[in-house]
Amino acid sequence: MPHKPNNRLAGQTAVITGGDSGLGRAISLAFAKEGANVVINYAHNEKAAHEVEQLITDGGGKALVVQADVSQEAAVESLFQQAVDAFGTVDVLVANSGLQQDSPFENMTLAQWQKVIDVNLTGQFLCTRAAIREFLRRGLRPDVSAALGKIICMSSVHEVIPWGGHANYASSKGGVELLMKSIAQEFGKRKIRINSIAPGAIKTPINTAAWDTPEAEKKLLTLIPYDRVGEPEDIGAVAAWLASDEADYIHGTTIFVDGGMTLYPGFGDNG
Ligand code: BGC
Repeated sequence: MPHKPNNRLAGQTAVITGGDSGLGRAISLAFAKEGANVVINYAHNEKAAHEVEQLITDGGGKALVVQADVSQEAAVESLFQQAVDAFGTVDVLVANSGLQQDSPFENMTLAQWQKVIDVNLTGQFLCTRAAIREFLRRGLRPDVSAALGKIICMSSVHEVIPWGGHANYASSKGGVELLMKSIAQEFGKRKIRINSIAPGAIKTPINTAAWDTPEAEKKLLTLIPYDRVGEPEDIGAVAAWLASDEADYIHGTTIFVDGGMTLYPGFGDNG
C-alpha cells in the first residue's frame, strides 16, 4: 500500500509493544517513515525485532530494540526507562501486544484465560500507566506536539462483536475499550490524547489459518462487506495519522479499521 511520508512524527519517540511482528511491525515502519524514533518492544522473537530495526535504520531512521513481557510490571518499567535513556522521553505509546489462546468455553483452562487477560489487558494497564507517568514527568513541548502525549490502545472488532470459542480474547478487548475510555476521561485535561484502533481481520500471524487458503479466505470474506482481508499497512497508516497532530481533536474513541466487519454483514440478505 502506498504510504507517503510527511514527517508528521518528527522529533517524537514512540514505544510500540509487540513491534516485531504483525500489526506492530507495520506500525513501527509507518512511524519511522513519519520521522519518529521507534522503540521496538518484543517478547520472544529477538531476530524479528532486529529485522524491523534494520529496516528502519536502512531508511535513515532511529530505532531501539527492547525485550519485555508487557504483563510483568518490572519489565514494563524497564522498557520505558530504556526508551527514556536512549531518546530522552516518550511521546507516543502504541499498546499493541496481544495474543489469542482459543478454546471452546467449557474446555478453557484458567491458564488460557489468565494468559490472554495478562497480556492483552493487564499489559495495556501497565504500559499506559508507564507512558502517562513519563508524559506527566516530561511536561508539554508545544513545538513537538499539541498533546502532552498520545496513546493508542490496540483493540479489535471483538471489543463489540462477541466471539464464541474466544471468550478470553473478546473479554480482554471489551476491557480495553473501557480502560481506554476511563483513562481518556481522566487525562484529557492534562492533554494526554488516548484512543483505540479496532482492526478487523488483518493478515498477520495471529489469524493465519483464517486466510491462508483460498477456502478459508472465501469464508472469511463473507464477514467483510468491503471484500478484502486487511493488510498490516492498513493499520500502520491509521496509527501514524492518529498519533499525529492532524488527529488532535480525536480523543477517547475507537476507530474501527475493519472493511465493514462491524456492519453485521449476516443481515445483508437476512432478517
Ligand atoms: C483477531 C483475529 C480475527 C479478527 C476478526 C482479531 O482481533 O485477533 O484472529 O481474525 O479479530 O475476527
